[in-house]
Amino acid sequence: AAGIARAEEGADVGTPVTVIVPTFNERDNVAELVARIAAALPEGDAEILFVDDSTDDTAAEVARVAADAPVPVRVIHRAENHGGLGGAVVVGIEAASFDVCIVMDGDLQHPPELLPALLDRYDAGDADLVAASRYVGGGDTRGLGTAVRFGVSRAATWLTRAMFPIRLARSTDPMTGFFLVDRKRLDVANLQPQGFKILLEILARNDLRIAEVPMEFAERRHGTSKASLRQGATFIAHLARLRFGKMSLFALIGAIGAAANLGIMWGLTAAGVPYIWAAIMGAEVTIIGNFLLQERFVFADMRTDARGLGVRFASSFAFNNVEAALRIPVMALMVESWHISSVLATALSLIVAFFARFLFHSLVV
Ligand code: GDD
Ligand code: MN
Repeated sequence: AAGIARAEEGADVGTPVTVIVPTFNERDNVAELVARIAAALPEGDAEILFVDDSTDDTAAEVARVAADAPVPVRVIHRAENHGGLGGAVVVGIEAASFDVCIVMDGDLQHPPELLPALLDRYDAGDADLVAASRYVGGGDTRGLGTAVRFGVSRAATWLTRAMFPIRLARSTDPMTGFFLVDRKRLDVANLQPQGFKILLEILARNDLRIAEVPMEFAERRHGTSKASLRQGATFIAHLARLRFGKMSLFALIGAIGAAANLGIMWGLTAAGVPYIWAAIMGAEVTIIGNFLLQERFVFADMRTDARGLGVRFASSFAFNNVEAALRIPVMALMVESWHISSVLATALSLIVAFFARFLFHSLVV
């Protein structure tokens, strides 16, 4: 209504915009963030939409600040944290009141004063997505902190751009969390975010015209970063899956498991453990390890049934033990009759098992 009133006065009314802020324990940043966003937004329809997964009282703080904020402020507090930061952003895009959405962090590392530049660049009319980049002229990465984090960030950016040379040709900073996107240009239902890199997910799955504006990445104001080694592993899985699909990630984890299995066999037999026992231990460790990795990185978004972790584990464990119970005797036969090393025999048996499984799936399943 305020926007309409201003329009009737003949003021220059900007594009209606929803500012989406994913938050995880950012209580002490909310008041300053809302004040600075409100001050930066041009005249016209606008709202700030928090999508919150906090375990502290961030959502209550948003409600308190909303009461006398100069723009409408909403908060969605999610009961379950699906897809982490990226999942929260997708919920925000779906729930936004306006098609033009700006996504930014809640810790003031993304300066709200940049909002007009993002909107102006979008209003030029030749871009579907405008990203705030740390790596174009005038951009700055001071807020990344240590040299190690800077190095990791640059290496990850380089790897990602090398893997998506066409889609990311015009994106110097596909890992930035500060960007404007026109929801109408997106296939939102097709997004399957995993962890932090929601912009990468959007750019890899949609053919968008990309523009950039330089940003100075500031220091976090209050609280602590949620980046972690675990987020790093999630990022690698996300990349593999975006590039090669779910099947390849499944195969990649299977290959890591096979290598681990052989490593365990080698170590245990070298230490004098009878090779049958070494084979059994290698198989069991691999069966459990693979289950946990697949569960975490491959099938996290596929749990549509109500079966619990225990039931999923039991069925996977049973299936793989049947396989091991068939495979290990074959391996022993190879060792005894051909007099080859048990590690080599296990490698051969794993290859045979792989093709048997493949044949079974293509012919029967
Ligand atoms: N809703 C929700 N759920 N929000 C989350 C979650 C989650 O599980 N995890 C983190 N967030 C929010 C944080 O509260 C913050 O507002 C924002 O996401 C970024 O998280 P930080 O903990 O500040 O991470 P960062 O500073 O390391 O990451 C930033 O830089 C990366 C590039 O270096 C973000 O901008 C990332 O998007 C960006 O990729
Ligand atoms: Mn941050």
